[in-house]
Amino acid sequence: MPRSAVAIYLPSDEFLAVSAELAEAGYEAIGISSVDEFEALLEARPDVGLAILDGESDFDATIEMYSLLHDGERNVASLMVVSSTALDRLSLAGRARINGEFVTRPYSAASLRWRVEAMLIRAETMLIRAEALDDGARGGILGGELSVAPSLVARRGRIVVVFNPKGGVGKTTIAINTSAVLQMRKNQRVLLVDCDTVTGHVVASLGMAEIPTVADVWRADLGTNVNHSLADIASAHSSGVAVLTMSRSPLHTEVLEPKRVAQAISAARDAYDWVIVDMHPDYGPLNQGIFALADHILVPVTPEVPTIRAAVQFREVSVELQIRDRLALVVNRSNSGVSSSDVEKVVGFAAVGKVRSAGMLFVKAANGGHSAVEDYPKARVVGDIEALADRLIALRDDPDHARGSFGGFTRPVRDLLGRLTSQATGRPRLPVQMR
Ligand SMILES: Nc1ncnc2c1ncn2[C@@H]1O[C@H](COP(=O)(O)OP(=O)(O)OP(=O)(O)O)[C@@H](O)[C@H]1O
Ligand SMILES: [Mg+2]
Repeated sequence: MPRSAVAIYLPSDEFLAVSAELAEAGYEAIGISSVDEFEALLEARPDVGLAILDGESDFDATIEMYSLLHDGERNVASLMVVSSTALDRLSLAGRARINGEFVTRPYSAASLRWRVEAMLIRAETMLIRAEALDDGARGGILGGELSVAPSLVARRGRIVVVFNPKGGVGKTTIAINTSAVLQMRKNQRVLLVDCDTVTGHVVASLGMAEIPTVADVWRADLGTNVNHSLADIASAHSSGVAVLTMSRSPLHTEVLEPKRVAQAISAARDAYDWVIVDMHPDYGPLNQGIFALADHILVPVTPEVPTIRAAVQFREVSVELQIRDRLALVVNRSNSGVSSSDVEKVVGFAAVGKVRSAGMLFVKAANGGHSAVEDYPKARVVGDIEALADRLIALRDDPDHARGSFGGFTRPVRDLLGRLTSQATGRPRLPVQMR
């Protein structure tokens, strides 16, 4: 059931402003004025996907409402509106066990709408992911059995997102070549999806600029009973990888509704062993929906401070988006600049691979519309990408043994880390995760 209704417990002037914004975004805003009313609403309307609560006026009522959101099987997201001093008091008093999200007054109704949209999309995508895992379990070898080993659930296709909020760090290069290795050397069925609707360059790099886009096909589907899946739309590359691009233009992409895209990507797990998604560097609703689906989010980082800073920022954002456990570092151009183990320590999450600098090799392969795996099969950098692919397969097949860092730490780096971390975050001495 789409969860597009929002329950709101706010003073009436704020309710009016917020509900008008939400209506514009297509969400139904339902005002409530008491705990009883709130309880009745949650009973009657399972489509309530989010509650906006006033954390200041009547704190006891708010606490009761919050616990109703998590009553029994129910798990509805919440946004708590508070003043910044109240937020300080809450956390100081240890009462921030309320682990919903906070909005501090004064706020603009438009900014609240943006957060609501992102949270609802995320909540729905989490639901799609949970349902997909459930279906996988039911369809597994054990058939109708209730308890299913996680490894069986994991037999469905894996979704691997390649993302770093900074541009030009090797996202597309790693997405293309990891896909090609998995397909050509590991006998896996791979769908490579370019979800970068702004500067996407997967299809240009693979000499496939003319293939139909998802936006084209879905637009043509409008008003018909046909609903093409991603597998229907994908085109085969010379490497064997099935390739898709969302759109050729950043304009007129309304048909690429984030929830629909997330659902389509999730459904593609049935047809492929791996769905590799190249993303535009932003935190918009489309990307948030796809993050929520991902089994792994590969974060290519080149060993320079601005790129490391972007990865540290992403790690912080990932906590709020509840995807922190899926981040996996790929140190790109690993033989230049700061050492790989230092990068790993500073960004604060484990690496799954490192890819050396390869001069013009990737550019030359792309000029011919190929992956480097096809044109330079013996190149050492292709060996690096193969090691990364092996690691992804190991994480799927034997997650208990495959976890952990890919390399030992070779020298004392605390001072360097302190310096790099404060440079990377603009803050003094962020605690660095030491393993
Ligand atoms: N390990 C490497 N060795 C040599 N060249 C590389 C390496 N990684 C990436 N490059 C080159 O660096 C450039 C940027 O890489 P790429 O296009 O993959 O980055 P991106 O993160 O996808 O960028 P954008 O954010 O613009 O989409 C490309 O010309 C690519 O060929
Ligand atoms: Mg790119």
